[in-house]
Amino acid sequence: MKYFRQVFEDKRLQAYINGGAGDETALQENEAILQSLRLIPRVMMDVEKANSHVNDILGAHDSPLVIGPTAFHRLVSTDGECSTALCSKLNNIPYVVSSFASCDVREIREILPASCYWQQLYIFNDPAITEEIVSDAEKFAAQAIIVTVGTPVSGDRPRERQAGWSVPAGVCARFNLKDPTTISQLARVSISQSATWDDIKNITMMTSIPILLKGILDPDDALRAVQIGCSGIIVSNHGGRQFDHSISALDTIGDIKEIVQGEIPIYLDGGIRTGLDVVKSIACGADRVLLGRAILWKLHEGGTSALNEYLHHINEEILHIMKLCGCPTISAISGLKVVRRV
Ligand SMILES: Cc1cc2nc3c(=O)[nH]c(=O)nc-3n(C[C@H](O)[C@H](O)[C@H](O)COP(=O)(O)O)c2cc1C
Repeated sequence: MKYFRQVFEDKRLQAYINGGAGDETALQENEAILQSLRLIPRVMMDVEKANSHVNDILGAHDSPLVIGPTAFHRLVSTDGECSTALCSKLNNIPYVVSSFASCDVREIREILPASCYWQQLYIFNDPAITEEIVSDAEKFAAQAIIVTVGTPVSGDRPRERQAGWSVPAGVCARFNLKDPTTISQLARVSISQSATWDDIKNITMMTSIPILLKGILDPDDALRAVQIGCSGIIVSNHGGRQFDHSISALDTIGDIKEIVQGEIPIYLDGGIRTGLDVVKSIACGADRVLLGRAILWKLHEGGTSALNEYLHHINEEILHIMKLCGCPTISAISGLKVVRRV
C-alpha cells in the first residue's frame, strides 16, 4: 500500500486534521523514521498457516491494529463515530472512543461489541466529567480506559491558527451529558494542568477496568506507570500535534521495552499508514499499533465502505509481509532485526 494523505476541499478542516505543532518536525519525523527502517527477513520458517492474531490482557483480536482516539468523527462522516464503530466490529479491531466523540456513547455501543470498546479519557478540570466518563465506561463495559497524558495544554498548530479553524457549530462533543456542547463553550471541559501521578492512581482505584496511559515517551515514566498499577502504555507523541521536537515513539520504544521487562503490553502510534508500518513498529518493540489520521482520511474519502476496505486491506498486507519475513505469528515479528538507513 502506498503512502497516502487526504486532501480536503475544506482547507480549514485539512489544517486541523493534517497539521501538527510548531514547524511540524515531530509530525514529519514520525513518518520519516518508518520510511528509513529496513527489516532483515528470516527464511525457512513454515509460514503457510501464518496468522496475525493478538491475545493479551486486553483480549483476543484478529490483528495488532487498534483504531486510536481522534475527536469529532462527524467532521469527516455524517454518521461520525457510528461509522467507525461498524468498521471496528466488522474487522474485530478495538476502537478507542475519544472523550471528544461527536456521537453519544450509547449509539456507538449499540454497534460496537464490548470486546472492541476501549474508552479514551482526559483528566478534566472538572473532576465530575472525568468521573462521569469513567462511570459510563463501566456502564457500557469498556475493556480498557486509555488516559491521555502529556497534553496539559494544546499544542500550538500554526496551520490551524492561520486557517482560522474552529469546530463547526453543528458538531458537538457529547460527553454523554444531558446538554451536548461545543468544547469552547465550557471551561469545565478544559484539560487539567495540575494533574499528577496521584490522579492516575485515583483513576486506577475508581474502576477495575484496565488503565493504559497514552503519551509516554520517557522510560522512567513507563516504569512509573508499571509501578502505579497501569495495565499498559501507549508510546506516543500524539501524532506530532502537541510538542514539536518531541522524540518519536519509534526512537524511544526500545529503551522503554528494556525497562518495562514485559510487565505490561506496550503499544505505539504516530505515522502508521500501511501494513508495512505496522510490521516495522512491532519489530521495534510494539505489541499493538494505533491508527490516527489514516482513519479520518478514509472516513472522509468514503465513509464506512472506504474505512472498512482500508482496514481489511491493511490486515492482508500485514499477513503478506509476515510471510515474506518468515514470521508465522505476531510475536515472531519482534525477533526480526531492524536496520535504520540514514
Ligand atoms: C484530528 C485529530 C484528533 C485527535 N484527537 C485525539 C483525542 O481526542 N484524544 C487523544 O488521545 N488523541 C487524539 N489525537 C491523537 C491520536 O490519538 C494519535 O496519537 C495520532 O493521531 C497518531 O498519529 P498519526 O495520526 O500520524 O497516526 C488526535 C489526532 C488527530 C489528528
